[in-house]
Amino acid sequence: METIVFASNNEHKLQEIRNILSGHFEIKSLHDIGCEADIPETGLTFEENALQKAEYVKAHYGLDCFADDSGMEVEALGGEPGIYSARYAKMHGREVTPDTRDDINMDVLIERLEALKPQYGTLAGARILSPAQFRTCIALIYKGETHYFDGIVRGNIIDQKRGTEGFGYDPIFVPDGFDKTYAQLGNETKNGISHRARAVQKLEAFFNSLK
Ligand code: IMP
Repeated sequence: METIVFASNNEHKLQEIRNILSGHFEIKSLHDIGCEADIPETGLTFEENALQKAEYVKAHYGLDCFADDSGMEVEALGGEPGIYSARYAKMHGREVTPDTRDDINMDVLIERLEALKPQYGTLAGARILSPAQFRTCIALIYKGETHYFDGIVRGNIIDQKRGTEGFGYDPIFVPDGFDKTYAQLGNETKNGISHRARAVQKLEAFFNSLK
């Protein structure tokens, strides 16, 4: 079976992607190829950041590779935090640790949206602070060519944290068509409908089209 690198060491993402692509490739992580570097992400778009990671692996290890970059884009903030989703609280001068980062990122987002005096109505008994979307971009370097796959899920940010599963902004994001947050829906349901799942499904369709 062909080997391809997924430029990540996130076990959760690796498992999800191995499940979907198991018929096509043996998927290797950064760790599997001996890459322990903190690959720079200095792009200004999800596409640039994803490509930077894939190009790093191609340049240093000569292996075909794909990489992803994701984040939350909030309409009332003109698309913020976007590529800064993981670093949002820090960018606003807040102290975070790996354990508190997700929680404080959400606090900062809620504070900034409340300051705009939102008038979007209510959803499942919570106030809507803004429409928003999660977006994932996958960049693939395969047989000398670069391809991009995009996954978007639209929904709303609410004013209170609900649910305990997932990570990041999951407790305040209600995807369209549901009345629960990603965190309340739980990993199994979320992984079937998520922005990342949609991008990976497009990647799989691309590999299927080559058969
Ligand atoms: P990454 O590029 O997938 O590592 O995501 C960067 C940041 O975007 C994460 O640290 C989270 O803050 C946010 N994010 C990305 N995907 C999700 C998700 O599925 N749920 C909640 N937050 C997410």
